[in-house]
Amino acid sequence: MFLNEKNLTAVDGQINLIHAIAHIEYSAIDLALDGAYRFRGLPKAYYDDWLAVGDDEIRHFLMLEGLLQDLGSSYGSVAVHDALFEAGQKTLDVVERMAVVPRYLEANGLDATPMILKKLKKLPKSESIEKIIRVLSTILDEEVEHVYKGDVWFSYVCEQKGVSTDLFFEIIKKYYPRSFLTTK
Ligand SMILES: [Fe+2]
Ligand SMILES: [Fe+2]
Repeated sequence: MFLNEKNLTAVDGQINLIHAIAHIEYSAIDLALDGAYRFRGLPKAYYDDWLAVGDDEIRHFLMLEGLLQDLGSSYGSVAVHDALFEAGQKTLDVVERMAVVPRYLEANGLDATPMILKKLKKLPKSESIEKIIRVLSTILDEEVEHVYKGDVWFSYVCEQKGVSTDLFFEIIKKYYPRSFLTTK
């Protein structure tokens, strides 16, 4: 990945990092709202949860957009991928969506962020690095709840459909076969 300490001391490296995360948050807004809109007939709490997640993701995006502006950039200045958009397009069933988006992709984000923070904390202290660390720490704290909500609703829809939650592994294998290559 582009993330090494040398890169992060330069403004361009910081912009690339923040832009990549801002794009994840931007995609997460779409995914949370799509999840609330697309799947019908679920308890009101389901819709409340995903609208609240959408609200968090908007706030996360704006915090990152603020950091980009501090660095003299803005969202849209760096090329982005459509992997998260595609994940939404592929998972048009609520069981698959809950498995793939909050329970796999967002959970992976929880695993990746502490490593990014560790690298940032090793850098020579500067105001911009301190600010980036604060924003990413806030996002990390709040993302825990998103994964938890995904877990609750994944279990709920599995129960409703009379399928085992072990289906999670089959779904992830279907969409991300490579993720199993490194699994012990
Ligand atoms: Fe977020
Ligand atoms: Fe999230």
